[in-house]
Amino acid sequence: MTSSSDLKFLGKQIILGVSGSIAAYKAVELLRVLVREGAAVSVVMTEAATRFVNPLTFEVLSRQPVTSNLFAAHQELLHLTLAERADLLVIAPATANVLAKCALGLADDLLSTMMLTTRCPVIIAPAMDGGMWDHPTVQLHTAVIRQRGVTVLEPEEGLLASGKVGRGRLTDQEAILSAIEARLSPRRDWVGQRVLVSAGPTQEAIDPVRFIGNRSSGKMGYAIAQAARERGAEVILVTGPTALERPHGVEVVPVLTAEDMGKALITRLAWSTVVLMAAAVADFRPRRSSQQKIKKEARTGMTLELEPTPDILETLAKQRSSQVIVGFAAETEPPLRHAEQKLKRKGIDLVVGNDVTADQCGFGSDSNAAVLVDRDGRVVELELMPKRELADRILDAIQTLSVFPAQHRPRNHE
Ligand code: CTP
Repeated sequence: MTSSSDLKFLGKQIILGVSGSIAAYKAVELLRVLVREGAAVSVVMTEAATRFVNPLTFEVLSRQPVTSNLFAAHQELLHLTLAERADLLVIAPATANVLAKCALGLADDLLSTMMLTTRCPVIIAPAMDGGMWDHPTVQLHTAVIRQRGVTVLEPEEGLLASGKVGRGRLTDQEAILSAIEARLSPRRDWVGQRVLVSAGPTQEAIDPVRFIGNRSSGKMGYAIAQAARERGAEVILVTGPTALERPHGVEVVPVLTAEDMGKALITRLAWSTVVLMAAAVADFRPRRSSQQKIKKEARTGMTLELEPTPDILETLAKQRSSQVIVGFAAETEPPLRHAEQKLKRKGIDLVVGNDVTADQCGFGSDSNAAVLVDRDGRVVELELMPKRELADRILDAIQTLSVFPAQHRPRNHE
């Protein structure tokens, strides 16, 4: 038998927002699980959602009245008070319209009004047609919402209501439940740590319009910065050019070249307690960069003379006092041997190795698999998972290092 103390969401006040997508019926099952796990759930539907599922279904299961109308007198006040007191607001499914209202701060119904009044963690699980999800406007709104600290759970790829196959299906219930669990009881086990993360590619100029670069998207480094921040660390992210939104609550230092990145990191080394070098730093740069655009004049070809860039990681490892230093090894074959070699050669504490050519891994991908090799002789294989989850696993591994500075006193504002 389950005792009440085993219930995951016991005593939690959750608002479940349901909007007008065909996936609205899935919110019924979500509600059942939340209630079964001890949560007190208030359901708020948009007008459109009531056309897909009868509010009575939610009322019976939540044992609470369901409201959608902003002008339903006392109901409205009741729900707005609730929004102020709630532990969490989850909108599943969320339509493109709901995303747009959240991003812009429109408040023309109860759910969107609640988005503005509540100060609790918010999770949004979109569901829509694939073409809509991919639309730049929807992507922009999603990015804006994420930047404000809202968890947006990517829809899944699969067969859509339209009969087409694409990315737009509501993510599965397990993903929503684990996001709820994570936002309700966030781990604060990195409070007191000061984390310096590098991410993205560097660009080495050939002339004012051309450069040598690489395919790094920056997603892994940004995910690490976000994870460390959410777990309580102060975080500085030194980043090459990427198309990503700056992570919430993180100080971002944009750089272009390997040289700039090196300077930005070295001057912040003394501040940090842990450094993660996730950037794909160019190994070589043009010996000379032309001040003028190079013309193609003679079609006989062109020779670029390259020189090595300084190895930032090695420099950091040499100059450190007590910082934990973590490097990455992006390889095009099984990474274990290279990771082991880089750990020794660079004199660092942990190497995260990955094969960028493996399926769904590497540059640009939202997921990754990795092997972690550390100075204490441990080797941990991490299977394919979202980069955000991998970021947490990397932070977990760093905490188990013998050199991890566990006893850092939180600074005043923590
Ligand atoms: N790195 C660095 N400075 C450089 C090049 C790489 O700090 N000039 C860091 C990367 O950020 C990464 C680690 O070193 O954390 C390994 O980078 P990688 O390019 O895989 O290894 P290299 O040392 O350049 O070796 P190789 O290219 O021969 O694999």
